[in-house]
Amino acid sequence: MMSAPELIKRHFSIIVAENAMKPAELVDKHEEGKYDFSRADELVDFARANNIEVRGHTLLWHNQAAPWLFDGKDGQEVTREALITRIETYIGDVVCHFKGRVFAWDVVNEAYCFDEPEVATDATGMRMSRMRKIIGPEFVEIAFCAAARADPDALLFYNDYETQHPGKLNAIIQMVTDFKRRGIKIDGIGHQTHCGMGHPSVQQLEDAILKIGELGVKQHITELDISLNNNIMDSEVSEATPELLEAQGVRYKAFFEMFIKNRKYISAVLVWGVDDGGSWLKSWPVKRFEAPLLFDDAQQTKPAFWAVLEAPKLAANPQRDTDPFPSFLVSLGGPDAKRPPRGRF
Ligand code: GLA
Repeated sequence: MMSAPELIKRHFSIIVAENAMKPAELVDKHEEGKYDFSRADELVDFARANNIEVRGHTLLWHNQAAPWLFDGKDGQEVTREALITRIETYIGDVVCHFKGRVFAWDVVNEAYCFDEPEVATDATGMRMSRMRKIIGPEFVEIAFCAAARADPDALLFYNDYETQHPGKLNAIIQMVTDFKRRGIKIDGIGHQTHCGMGHPSVQQLEDAILKIGELGVKQHITELDISLNNNIMDSEVSEATPELLEAQGVRYKAFFEMFIKNRKYISAVLVWGVDDGGSWLKSWPVKRFEAPLLFDDAQQTKPAFWAVLEAPKLAANPQRDTDPFPSFLVSLGGPDAKRPPRGRF
């Protein structure tokens, strides 16, 4: 069995840390301004030594935040001004630390939320996170401006799930349009793309990609996985039957055909995890059986892996994008695969 690093070196040309670059992992639990970059640096060093690009994820999110982010003086909640300074300092420090080594950052993750009755939002659909409550909707642009100051060359992304949802898509379009009008640097939109077997449809995601494409920003597929359940929230499936694995492959291939057809807009695709054994979907939303990735628990290729390799042959769109990076930064297929090794299709 190949070790995870060997598998990554052989099949992937871009990497993202699932957790190691989130604030809760980078900061000292008690002391603001103190960091532990060791795990993240290890990942970045490994990537650079093996000619693999690094995506940074994520600078600001309502989950896995610095434990002291909202603490104020004398047990009070932090003031608006102090929170802004804290966010600017954190983003400045982290982006500077990885400057030149991380080519793109998910600056803000999941600021909007629709059709989730348990989540409070404002009238625009912005999640009433503590950042939103204390600072106001401007917390998003404050984060982007801080990241842009720290590394003007890094690509700055807004990242979210269910980006095909009409409400969320509209909110994203409004945000990008507004930022562009006011000269706030935003380079791209990240589609997390956590899918089930039935949702979303390839067409729904393609429609969203085309709409965002009209804005002239880059787009990355940032966290792709396809749960064997119909919807990622379900837990009905209890084993990976050959039929289910075949069907999963067909769905992976359909998504990749669509990404390749739209390569003018989609310049990177990342799967969320190397193999099924480590997938978050085995323990979220409940502990259950799942097998959403391209390699199984024993790190062997699945039908989905081979199906993805077939996709490029079927997509007749030779258009090359103008990205400084290869058209597809996740490139699957090592020396023995039936397509060129990492790089452009
Ligand atoms: C979201 C986040 C990721 C990760 C997944 C679950 O998609 O963006 O960082 O936490 O949830 O693993």
